[in-house]
Amino acid sequence: MTADVQHIGRPNASPVLRASIAEQIAALRGPDAPAAPPPLLEIAVERVALPGGHVLVARPSDWPELRENEAFDKRPTPYWAVPWPSGLSLARLVASQPPKGKRVLELGCGLAIPTVAAARAGAAHVLATDVNTDSIVFAAHNLHLNDVTGDTAVGDWRQIVETFADEPWDLVLAADVLYTRENVQLLVDVLPGLLAPGGEVWLADPRRAGAGEFLPIAKKLWHVDSHEDPEDDRVMLHRLHGRRR
Ligand SMILES: C[S@@+](CC[C@H](N)C(=O)[O-])C[C@H]1O[C@@H](n2cnc3c(N)ncnc32)[C@H](O)[C@@H]1O
Repeated sequence: MTADVQHIGRPNASPVLRASIAEQIAALRGPDAPAAPPPLLEIAVERVALPGGHVLVARPSDWPELRENEAFDKRPTPYWAVPWPSGLSLARLVASQPPKGKRVLELGCGLAIPTVAAARAGAAHVLATDVNTDSIVFAAHNLHLNDVTGDTAVGDWRQIVETFADEPWDLVLAADVLYTRENVQLLVDVLPGLLAPGGEVWLADPRRAGAGEFLPIAKKLWHVDSHEDPEDDRVMLHRLHGRRR
């Protein structure tokens, strides 16, 4: 945990929050999937410091335990359940450069902290998306916990493009999504179909090899400005703008 993430309360401090999350997780997992393992519902609520004030983030409190339980159930590693440094960096960027009046889409949102920051900063509309249904349940509750409105959707990036093809976005956010090789070409393929004319992509990445492959391709399609997060030197922030072709 970084210094700008602070625990408040104790795990499962709110039975109402826990019950609501449990109900939606079961509904989205469906009857054929394994029931939510206990660590998924041991929920901590944390205060994350951002420019303009903190936001509240609910998440499973013991990630190693959750990962072990999901592996036992032969389910994917729950990468969504951690506030990764890149997600925090991207949320800080969004909070310091508010996307007022913009339509904002987040890909691979996990806990959706950048989406919450965008909604709070006056975005016209926000949509947090992830392929993992549990992630989307926590994302929706995190919007609610912060008293902001926004939509959430489950799907991989191809499904998101197909579903929202008629609704291009002014700003597409993504944090730490280039950790698999498949995602590199996939991101290159889907971004043009998601962006409105003049739209931008803000990508936060912890210097993964995937970003090293993605950026040279992206530079052929967009202007790319990159800088290290001044508050966390593990993370690079990339802004893709001005479509070349
Ligand atoms: C390392 S986690 C990062 C989570 C969050 N963005 C953060 O930085 O805290 C990667 C997230 O991307 C999602 N993801 C990865 N590939 C995806 C894809 N092709 N389509 C949709 N979601 C994807 C995963 O489910 C996971 O929630």
